[in-house]
Amino acid sequence: MCERRHPDIPDLLARNRAWAADKTAADPGFFERLVAHQTAPYLWIGCSDSRVPANEIVGLDPGEMFVHRNIANLAPPQDANFLSVLQYAVQVLRVRHILVVGHYGCGGVRAAYENLRLGLIDHWLSPIRGLVRAKAAQLAALPDDAARLDRLCELNVLEQVENVSINPFVLDAWAAGADLTVHGWCYSLADGLVRDLGSTVDGAHSLLPPAG
Ligand code: CO
Repeated sequence: MCERRHPDIPDLLARNRAWAADKTAADPGFFERLVAHQTAPYLWIGCSDSRVPANEIVGLDPGEMFVHRNIANLAPPQDANFLSVLQYAVQVLRVRHILVVGHYGCGGVRAAYENLRLGLIDHWLSPIRGLVRAKAAQLAALPDDAARLDRLCELNVLEQVENVSINPFVLDAWAAGADLTVHGWCYSLADGLVRDLGSTVDGAHSLLPPAG
């Protein structure tokens, strides 16, 4: 177990000054462009977990990705915070990609799976407990709890991709001809790599059940 000393608050401010100086040195117009406007073509919906820093994982600078994070990367259809972010991203920023990004080892997913009593979060995680019940047979068929938790992290992403894809803001954007794609990803804390879950939705047509 390696102990790491965390910077204190003056250190953080000093780091901020160094970061801003580095950015300016590498690209003198960087902050002027950011002040002028935001052109972020991506919306990231991810977990609040400090090990999953949105921009950093995909190598993007400030100004390139609009970010919404909450515990266990949920896209709840009645959450005013999520809906405000989604509407702004789709209607004002006109993002072209919505990335729903879960991560293996998610504490929120584990808390729901283990039915822990932690407080308000128990209510927030209610959709994942519902998923545990709905997918009980599929989860039971897996060899152990580690495999079940990994799969549950993925199933949660797929569920949130569906939530986003049937959201009226998104459906209206597609009906108006918007070029907008929803992706489901799962990030591994162990190797820093993102796995595409193959659940891409690029229009209301993708939501139709298979014919036959
Ligand atoms: Co998490």
